[in-house]
Amino acid sequence: MTMKTIGVLGAGTMGSGIALSAVMGGYQAVLSDNSGAALDRAQTKLAKYLARQVEKERITQAEAEAASARLATVKTMDGLAEADLVIEAVFEDLAVKRGAFTQLEAIVRNDTVLATNTSALKVGDIAEALTHKGRFCGMHYFSPAEINPVVELIRGAETSDAAIDAVLPFLAQTRKIAIRCKDQSGFALNRFFCPYTNEAVRCLEEGMGSTAQIDAVVKSALGVAIGPFAVMNIVKPFINLSAVQTLSHLGAFYAPAVLFQQVGTAKQDWEIDAEFTPLAPAQAAAVSGRIRGAIFYAVLDEISEGVASPEDIDAGAQKAFTFAKGPAAMMRELGFEETTRLLKGVSPNGTARLQDALGALLG
Ligand SMILES: NC(=O)c1ccc[n+]([C@@H]2O[C@H](COP(=O)([O-])OP(=O)(O)OC[C@H]3O[C@@H](n4cnc5c(N)ncnc54)[C@H](O)[C@@H]3O)[C@@H](O)[C@H]2O)c1
Repeated sequence: MTMKTIGVLGAGTMGSGIALSAVMGGYQAVLSDNSGAALDRAQTKLAKYLARQVEKERITQAEAEAASARLATVKTMDGLAEADLVIEAVFEDLAVKRGAFTQLEAIVRNDTVLATNTSALKVGDIAEALTHKGRFCGMHYFSPAEINPVVELIRGAETSDAAIDAVLPFLAQTRKIAIRCKDQSGFALNRFFCPYTNEAVRCLEEGMGSTAQIDAVVKSALGVAIGPFAVMNIVKPFINLSAVQTLSHLGAFYAPAVLFQQVGTAKQDWEIDAEFTPLAPAQAAAVSGRIRGAIFYAVLDEISEGVASPEDIDAGAQKAFTFAKGPAAMMRELGFEETTRLLKGVSPNGTARLQDALGALLG
């Protein structure tokens, strides 16, 4: 099916960005929200974005006007009846999402592909609301959705090949990199991003460095634009904590650090000193080892569970999180012995299972 019209349900932070990305890709987009104020904000965001693109000479005024004309906003879901694909971005609440999909299924065609932008709910749990489950998948955009090039394409247990095949050209046309993954907690990328931030908090808790010192070490070790504490302050530690908590059932390694729970629950930000003395080389190496060990642990876990391929995990790490190199590439470069040493630093219960996965990765 060649898609022409993309419906987006929910015009908040994510939905407005997803609709914007669709019109920039040449699609007609219909953005629906039961809040008129949210729709107005989405129109303002689109106008500002297009004006900036014209200012920077990335598009012409005529192209901006054409893109703007491709967006329609509607207050009721009926306006989504003609959509070839509907991406849902309403509140992160299972009952709200299920209710929205039940309503939506009564409006759209039987061959309309339906997707959820859930961050942390199971795609399979949301699918329970649908009669035709094969046409349903997860499309997890990263914020800001109009800019971040990565989308996790999540296959639920009942998602059909046809639904995945229909979505891939849309993602390519809107210049998104599809990270294909299974419907597991954390999907492909939060599965290691959460342990990465959690390990940074553990290092802080153990007195291995201050927030600023740890951020500086990680920036240099991973080549990221900003360190884990600065990233958490952007995302907000309480939101990050809730993402970490969705992985807790995977075992002690994934459980949130006590300090993380305190700061997150109190809805505080991390204090990061502007002035600081960098850590001495030995201390910096210890922090860098722990952070990389935590990333490798989670990535080997998910590769061995078949959640996502090493190639997709690496692409996501680089494009969504600005890692200079993907975790699988880092492990291949370090080799078996050095990677095992780093895994031992974060895995008190032994590394035999992870070493098997590492052996398979290194071939
Ligand atoms: N904000 C992020 O960084 C981010 C990143 C990735 C995924 N997500 C996920 O995207 C989804 C949306 O998040 P957001 O940050 O855009 O939320 P938001 O609160 O900014 O927007 C949600 C919008 O949905 C509308 N809405 C709620 N119920 C509705 C219904 N039944 N019908 C129509 N409209 C309805 C609300 O009026 C609101 O405008 C969530 O599932 C969230 O977990 C968020």
